[in-house]
Amino acid sequence: MQKGRKRFSILLSLFLLAFSFSITPAFSIESAEAAPKKENPSVKAYDQKIIARVSSERIFEDVRYLSETIGPRVTGTKEEQQAAEFIKERLQSYGYEVETQEFSIPDRMIGNLKTSDNSEVLINIPAGSAVTPAEGITNELFDAQLGRTTDFTSEAAGKIALISRGEITFKEKVDNAVAAGAIGVLIYDNIDQPGPLNPSIGGDAPVPVGGISKASGLALLNDVALQGKTVTLVVEKLESATSKNIIATRVPKKGNNHDIVHVSAHFDSVPFAPGASDNASGTSVALELARILKSYPIDKELRFVFVGAEEIGLVGSEYYVSQLSQDEIKRSIANFNMDMVGTSWENATAIYMNTLDGQANIVTETAVAAAERIGTPSELVLYQRGASDHVSFHDAGIPAVNFIRREPGTANLEPYYHTPLDTIEHISPERLKEAGDLVGSSVYNLIRK
Ligand code: BES
Ligand code: ZN
Repeated sequence: MQKGRKRFSILLSLFLLAFSFSITPAFSIESAEAAPKKENPSVKAYDQKIIARVSSERIFEDVRYLSETIGPRVTGTKEEQQAAEFIKERLQSYGYEVETQEFSIPDRMIGNLKTSDNSEVLINIPAGSAVTPAEGITNELFDAQLGRTTDFTSEAAGKIALISRGEITFKEKVDNAVAAGAIGVLIYDNIDQPGPLNPSIGGDAPVPVGGISKASGLALLNDVALQGKTVTLVVEKLESATSKNIIATRVPKKGNNHDIVHVSAHFDSVPFAPGASDNASGTSVALELARILKSYPIDKELRFVFVGAEEIGLVGSEYYVSQLSQDEIKRSIANFNMDMVGTSWENATAIYMNTLDGQANIVTETAVAAAERIGTPSELVLYQRGASDHVSFHDAGIPAVNFIRREPGTANLEPYYHTPLDTIEHISPERLKEAGDLVGSSVYNLIRK
């Protein structure tokens, strides 16, 4: 009891803190201190049909499969396709009618950098970089420091310039290297970040250009000092690539022209990120809800929409929405989008409900009511934010919400976001279940007979 009271006062002060800054309208969920669910009198039998079945282990294992067995699922790669295939087979095994939508994505650059002792260095290639021959270019490095004109000597000609971020623009660095006769450019970060630098060079360069981390850059400076050591850089353009959406649909047994509820999650990730939180978490919770919601009578149409190509600008969800008929859009009453719902980062104690206009809608209202009934432990916060697939639904006029875990008050995301540290180690099975219970009981309450 002592512990319970302490926790309540922490929650209360967090709430008051958020309120005093009047940052966001926050819903303080009274049942934050709810007794164990089975003793909670406000849990209805229909909620129980969901929360008794949401399995944190099953969701966690799917997060593991997507983030570890498959790994980073970069838009347009075979790993993204593999994830799509995994989702499709799983939905079919549950007995759903499954549709695959394929669409093309813009061309993009990919690179590979290896040292002479064959160790791999993570690299980002900016748009505008030149490509290399298929076997790449193998050359010595030139330490061009900050890449100012005065940092280059005649020694740079025919070498790959290794340049630190800072002081002048990336474009100026590249121009100076080219003027000095360098045949490639590697720019390393000047701050410690787990992933490689993503430089933007504003236009086309006549030589291949890549961004690497500070740690990689400092390690490569050794190769310069050792002289005669080379690196091999391969840059290619990935053309005519495609991505996919996987859609599972259930329609009520009787009647037609039912309202439609869309549950969505993206399964692609950014380069070098295993994407356990972003967004194997939402994908796996949605798969679990698909399993559970297959078995109950419904009076609305239910669609699970697993989208690709979110990370390059919501391309998959925009495509999905563009394929809906006017009639389908008219019948669409809600989109529950889950993106980053399972981080174990201790500060992310709130479940944010992001809407484009910051206003409540049928989705937030349904979720607040469900949270009160089932005693969702986390505070729910209504917040104005895009940046996920709910934007595409909203733009079509469909009430849409992105469910996402954040730090209350600051709205900070976990520090592993979009980095190689977005791994299963930073995922909480309990929080996955909490998201599944909340979204599951909300959706079920909307569609149940
Ligand atoms: N999983 C994030 C969701 C998100 C929402 C991140 C709000 C940050 C704030 C999503 O995958 C993402 O990374 N979105 C991109 C924008 C998108 C349009 C490519 C982002 O926020 O950088
Ligand atoms: Zn993301």
